[in-house]
Amino acid sequence: MFKNTRDGGGDGRYASWTRDFESERERRARQGDPEWARGAALPPALVRSLRRFQVGENGDGAELIGKADRAGDPTYAAAARLFVAEERNHARLLAELLAAGGAGTLEAHWSDTAFVRLRRLLGLRLELLVLMVAEVVALRYYRTLRDGRVDPLLSEVAGRVLADEERHVPFHCARLREGFAHLPGPARRLATAGWRALLAGA
Ligand SMILES: [Fe+2]
Ligand SMILES: [Fe+2]
Repeated sequence: MFKNTRDGGGDGRYASWTRDFESERERRARQGDPEWARGAALPPALVRSLRRFQVGENGDGAELIGKADRAGDPTYAAAARLFVAEERNHARLLAELLAAGGAGTLEAHWSDTAFVRLRRLLGLRLELLVLMVAEVVALRYYRTLRDGRVDPLLSEVAGRVLADEERHVPFHCARLREGFAHLPGPARRLATAGWRALLAGA
């Protein structure tokens, strides 16, 4: 899970991630939003799950940014800020989608509140491991929605969010790989096993 997908080393290790996040932000600005006025026909069960994901996407970015700042690598901190902005944009897109389907958003959901509390207790590395569980669950969820042919606006929003999520997992992996690099092999394997157990639980 900690495979490096880019050339690391030296300062500016995360410069290429920052460039990616920035060029995606520009691409989104050019593309504009989906046509919300089209409306969406969302079955009630889907509204319930979308609301939970909407709360989750809003998440606890300030906490992650604080930890990234304290980690002492400004290029990583810059990339982490752009990552958090992307997740907040997902929350915005899901809120717009719910509104297009005639549904509102939730204030909070117990599962998310528990998740945020858990993450607060953790250092950056463990927080990223927990966050990765959410990212992998999100990949499956948005892929199912994109391909589900339930509603065109829903598929479009899910496709846009999914494209971002597919970049998030390798971004966290790059940081984790670096974070765990100094650990001996058995400890690294233990971390990987623990993460898989957490994923199975989720
Ligand atoms: Fe997201
Ligand atoms: Fe994500």
